[in-house]
Amino acid sequence: MSDKATLTVNNQNIDLPVLVGTEDEVAIDIKSLRGQSNVITLDSGYKNTGSCKSSITFLDGEKGILRYRGYDIEELANNADFTDVAFLLIFGDLPKKDQKEKFLNDIKDHSIVDEDLKKILESFPKSAHPMGVLSSLTSALTSFNPSSVNVNSESEMYEAIVKLLAKLPVIVSWVFRKREGLPLNYGDYSLGYVENITKMMFSKPNKPYEQNDIIVRAINKLLILHADHEQNCSTSTVRIVGSSHAGLFASISAGISALWGPLHGGANQAVVEMLYAIEADGGDTKKYMAKAKDKSDPFRLMGFGHRVYKNFDPRARIIKATADEVLGDLGVVDPILDIAKGLEKEALEDPYFVDRKLYPNVDFYSGIIYKALGIPTEMFTVMFALGRLPGWIAQWREMRLQKEPIGRPRQLYVGPKVRNFVDVDLR
Ligand code: ACO
Repeated sequence: MSDKATLTVNNQNIDLPVLVGTEDEVAIDIKSLRGQSNVITLDSGYKNTGSCKSSITFLDGEKGILRYRGYDIEELANNADFTDVAFLLIFGDLPKKDQKEKFLNDIKDHSIVDEDLKKILESFPKSAHPMGVLSSLTSALTSFNPSSVNVNSESEMYEAIVKLLAKLPVIVSWVFRKREGLPLNYGDYSLGYVENITKMMFSKPNKPYEQNDIIVRAINKLLILHADHEQNCSTSTVRIVGSSHAGLFASISAGISALWGPLHGGANQAVVEMLYAIEADGGDTKKYMAKAKDKSDPFRLMGFGHRVYKNFDPRARIIKATADEVLGDLGVVDPILDIAKGLEKEALEDPYFVDRKLYPNVDFYSGIIYKALGIPTEMFTVMFALGRLPGWIAQWREMRLQKEPIGRPRQLYVGPKVRNFVDVDLR
């Protein structure tokens, strides 16, 4: 591989460095292009643009590979717990036993959320979407934790990280409990991270809480599968907001808003709503396949397609098996699971989907699992955010430690040329 690429523009040859990543991916470094030629590159949606160098997550969309810090997603989903994965993503290696214990205890030590935050939560109508509430409350946490992080201080950075990992699950459980009309509570110091989340969410004031291992295992797996996915929309948002040196909590709050959209994390809610709509309309999957293919119809098959995976989403394979397992273990019979399987089968055999390399993504089955676990549809994306938190933190930390410059893309201006101001009476 040559170490330079030559671009000819306006009869000028411009040499640009070629960089090669650990997995032999190749990138042309265009940093000097504008300086040399006054020309920029244009790539709406960044389909072909790398925004940073990163050593956190590797994914190969053609081969269907996803690895966190070198570990295969399947291995992690089947063997690790979420605390292992959070530590791995953020600090680079799986924690040793004592590191893991300390990490978990430090998180628990910070798991008190200022009581005044409840007043903010109370002011939201019960009908407010939980993602909007979560983003607002995460942003509000900044006011209760005012010290900005000195990123050069390892201990300050560590404290900000464990605080966020500690407080977000409490807020998530409060958002859920407010919707359900349940009293807001705190965690249990004796429990693990995921066990604690399920207790905070599902415990009732009128009976003792009994842990359901099937639910804990399923949530652990879902959180791991969602924990990072390199430079997706919400992660890029976290990095770009943080690149202005906005604090960690503010950057994560922005990431939560970005995740909310139905083309990104909001797809898990959109999938289940779509499956219900198909069921209510008689369960005719062929009709909806035709709508998805009709270019004059805005309907898309939610949970299908991915910007990067053009073969299969390895997370979808794990999640499909988990859906079967969880529904079987809990004895849940859900007609929308059959509709989902029907759609998947038809799409995998349909030239429209095959030609465009549209396969089920991670969200096609995750909503069905969350629903079986008793989590309401509007909370699905909140659960996704909980899983993505360590990934966002890891990416924010990496961006700050690499001293990346402020994110500020350029544009190709296509508006009017200079015009003279016209007084309102003469317009
Ligand atoms: N249903 C029907 N057609 C689709 C779908 C779909 N779900 N997804 C893409 N296509 C078609 C497009 O219409 C387009 O067709 P054309 O070439 O004839 O114009 C072609 O496939 C390429 O689609 P793009 O939108 O250009 O692909 P892009 O990479 O920009 O988008 C995305 C990826 C946003 C995920 C898209 O596939 C989509 O909207 N899927 C449904 C929403 C979804 O499930 N999002 C979750 C993604 S996973 C995550 O964020 C965690």
